[in-house]
Amino acid sequence: MQSFPAFFPLEGRRVVVIGQGPAADAKARLFDGSPAALERFDASPGVETLRGAALVFVAGEDEADRMRAWRAAREAGVPVNVVDHTELCDFYTPAIVDRGALVIGVSTSGAAPTLARDLRARIEQVVPAAYEKLAAFAQRIRTRVTARRPGIDARRRAWETILRGAAGEAALAGDMDAAERAAERVLSGDPRARGVVHLVGAGPGDPDLLTIKALRVMQDADVVFYDKLVDPRVLDLVRRDAERVFVGKARGQHAVPQRNIEEQLIDAAKQGLRVVRLKGGDPFVFGRGGEELEALKAADVAAYVVPGVTAALGCAAEAGTPLTHRDHAQAVTFVTGHAKGGGAPDLDWRALSAAKHTVVVYMGVDTAPLIAKKLIEAGRAAGTPVLVIENGTTARVKRVRGTLDRLGELMVEGEIYGPAILIIGDVAALGDADVAKIVAEAVQ
Ligand SMILES: C[S@@+](CC[C@H](N)C(=O)[O-])C[C@H]1O[C@@H](n2cnc3c(N)ncnc32)[C@H](O)[C@@H]1O
Repeated sequence: MQSFPAFFPLEGRRVVVIGQGPAADAKARLFDGSPAALERFDASPGVETLRGAALVFVAGEDEADRMRAWRAAREAGVPVNVVDHTELCDFYTPAIVDRGALVIGVSTSGAAPTLARDLRARIEQVVPAAYEKLAAFAQRIRTRVTARRPGIDARRRAWETILRGAAGEAALAGDMDAAERAAERVLSGDPRARGVVHLVGAGPGDPDLLTIKALRVMQDADVVFYDKLVDPRVLDLVRRDAERVFVGKARGQHAVPQRNIEEQLIDAAKQGLRVVRLKGGDPFVFGRGGEELEALKAADVAAYVVPGVTAALGCAAEAGTPLTHRDHAQAVTFVTGHAKGGGAPDLDWRALSAAKHTVVVYMGVDTAPLIAKKLIEAGRAAGTPVLVIENGTTARVKRVRGTLDRLGELMVEGEIYGPAILIIGDVAALGDADVAKIVAEAVQ
């Protein structure tokens, strides 16, 4: 370790920046929004003024001025940083990730500030902005935790439970009252305090489409419940030691009943586990996420929803097919093609037949011919473009394109078995145009 990272408290402290120009301005900007009292001087203000400062930055453009300021800071006995003179620095300025009380500094001991900045950019991506709220919450309850858990080990365990469980999640979500209540449950020894369920959108397949938040909770989970729409590459990103429970429909077997899944989620949370319920696409788009959330809330389990990229958005983006377009579609509607007990789904066919309107049908593989018939009967043009996308954003993607009157045939010719969406409307003619090539690629 060539230099030692240490953090200077800024509350009620003076920070001095000496010099004019962009480098001095940049140093001063570091303290925007901090509680430090920032003082700026064009040239050295003298030893007495510098005495007692927490930090001094020397950044002027005149070399003689800089040396004078450095000597004065030295004589005043305060830590000094001289821009572009690493050999004169008592401390280096790190690249900073600022999350309020949570501060991350990256240093290359003055060797390569660009490298430190590049690394900072990567850290910025993985430390959500909400961590500022979590750190503020920790500050708020610190004395209470210390008083209620005087022993070091017990205190460490309490902090782990608070910050990684329901209290931490509530604080990250900005709900400080819920965070306080959950922390109180931990401090009063309630074993359920740690349990929390996240309903997480796994997206349509491509793991790069996961949100940063989804990744964070997946890597923090004790147990993950998933079904068959969740891509194996997404499942691979779950914490290695987490238990994985399949709750989908295995080949030749019945699906696990919804009520049973909800009970398993509730049981796991009440054992104090961090639970992730992974769902294909977005949990709230034809994903029964609403029912699961209601059941969890009714059972008094802390539950959160992490959105995902729904199939329509992921598949359309991959195909280069915009779902709305100023020239072709002013509205888009997502509908389910699934009908209880077979037959056509119960939809407002007239509304769906409006011109300049894109309809995206989920779960419509079996009912595609009926859907086409109903739309045409309700007034949609027989020649309306349609695009069928199966297994979008996976290596098995298949796309077939044609017109509404031939939708049934397209499904058969393209050997579409699902999961697939049907995009119906003028926009379906846009995007990857060479359909023959697309189908050929998919068949390989
Ligand atoms: C029960 S719904 C779940 C939808 C999911 N919650 C979402 O937001 O995408 C299942 C339907 O989503 C669509 N779907 C899911 N993943 C897909 C994919 N990778 N490619 C095409 N369609 C997909 C299909 O219509 C499938 O029948």
